[in-house]
Amino acid sequence: MSNHEQHETSHRPVQRKEMSRRQFLSYTLGGTTAFMMGGAVLPMVRFAADPLLKKKGESAYVKVVEESKITNEPQEFKFKIHQVDGWYESEPELVAWISKNQQGEVFALSPVCKHLGCTIAWNTKGKNEYDCPCHDARYSKDGKNITVANTPLDEYDVMIDQGFIYLGAIKPNTRV
Ligand code: FES
Repeated sequence: MSNHEQHETSHRPVQRKEMSRRQFLSYTLGGTTAFMMGGAVLPMVRFAADPLLKKKGESAYVKVVEESKITNEPQEFKFKIHQVDGWYESEPELVAWISKNQQGEVFALSPVCKHLGCTIAWNTKGKNEYDCPCHDARYSKDGKNITVANTPLDEYDVMIDQGFIYLGAIKPNTRV
């Protein structure tokens, strides 16, 4: 390129692309609409997804009874847990049959019969067993299934702290 051509190029006026009025209106209205839609829709999305985003807490233990009240004879205790199921919170009442084994260790059994889910009770027929009123299933003190049901009673996680018994999640029987 000659010096003359260079000089011409450097003095050529810069051409700006002008935005048309139509483009300006499209951008402005489009941006405003997107902003307003975002403001309306985002809270709804957050509300819908909120329970799914929350971490599930570790299974909480619930204080049920003083350890000193527990004997070798199973006793029925009722307690409430705080339950969150999606958007629905409730405080259902649970039941546990709590007793000590030969070594003095505390354990707690679920009252739900493993046959069809009726509620069992201790020693209703004088045989020192758990009995189910629905179809006569029987279980030993450890929850072992004797008749009708195919599996032993479930048990609760047990924690003892400062003289109190706390119950946690229900799990398959570990005793039989
Ligand atoms: S539900 Fe308990 S024996 Fe059938």
